[in-house]
Amino acid sequence: MRTVLTVRGVGHRYGGTVALDAVDLTVGAGECVALLGPNGAGKTTLVNLVVGLLPRQQGEIDLAGGDPRNARTRRGLGVVQQSLGYPGTLKVGELISGAAVRGGRPRSSAAPIMAELGLTDLTERRVAKLSGGQKQRVQLAMALVTDPKLLVLDEPTVGLDVPTRRRFWQVLEQRRAMGTGILLTTHLIDEAAAVSNRAVVLDHGRVLASAPPEELVSRLPDRTITARTDLGDERLTALPEVVSFERNGGLVHIGTRYPERLLRLLLAEDPGLSNLQVEGASLEEAVVALTSPHNVGREVAR
Ligand SMILES: Nc1ncnc2c1ncn2[C@@H]1O[C@H](COP(=O)(O)OP(=O)(O)OP(=O)(O)O)[C@@H](O)[C@H]1O
Ligand SMILES: [Mg+2]
Repeated sequence: MRTVLTVRGVGHRYGGTVALDAVDLTVGAGECVALLGPNGAGKTTLVNLVVGLLPRQQGEIDLAGGDPRNARTRRGLGVVQQSLGYPGTLKVGELISGAAVRGGRPRSSAAPIMAELGLTDLTERRVAKLSGGQKQRVQLAMALVTDPKLLVLDEPTVGLDVPTRRRFWQVLEQRRAMGTGILLTTHLIDEAAAVSNRAVVLDHGRVLASAPPEELVSRLPDRTITARTDLGDERLTALPEVVSFERNGGLVHIGTRYPERLLRLLLAEDPGLSNLQVEGASLEEAVVALTSPHNVGREVAR
């Protein structure tokens, strides 16, 4: 796979604060890499270094064969930030065709991407009069109009309604199929699990894990058995292999590392057991386990 972004040994300090410590990361063509981690982990610092907004202090960053501090290299980059910071008096069409021209593309390349994102009817609308979701679509159009090799998305779907969010990811899926790489930061971990093929978990400026989301989840041993049962709490918690227990209305949720063994026991004790579900952990739980201070995390990280 061709690599569109290579980050090697990158460190960054703000005065005495170490924001990034020897970070390595790659994004291949067509990959979507989700950068996850708690507040202050260093995600925005890394993104700002990748897009050339911060001076580099330590390590190397290679963006499709160039240095992101070089304006020509940045033409290969599309950026979507959490909010659009452009003068409200500009019109949607002007903004997107302006982005095309700055990226060395003809003004006419704006029309197809505007159609793709449902923005054609808003061509003459001033930015100040757009809704939050419409502004995000404008940013995405500006980012895509130059056919970037790498898209960097910083919390791109915050505030989008469900259909707009789906459309957003559909458009990005098509670009991935054409070879665009994506680096995404988000606190919406379920979304990251759905759209990315690799999650990089950052905490205190260090990479704790880099793996497909399903692999990070599978490193968590616990499964949850949910069922409706007449067995009382005491009998349930006395069963072997139970590591957690919760009753919620008529349902019980039982955490275990050995769901098959526990299920046999449960069914033997209560043949009337119903509404049975067995679920694995979510990516959110995997990230919490990795980054919580007291911790299962060390175990997961290996
Ligand atoms: N301009 C700055 N000056 C001083 N310290 C900073 C600055 N920007 C970030 N930091 C510090 O660097 C560390 C990493 O911050 P960063 O913004 O990269 O985290 P983040 O992962 O993006 O967090 P969040 O999820 O809250 O957006 C934090 O300890 C933060 O306080
Ligand atoms: Mg941030």
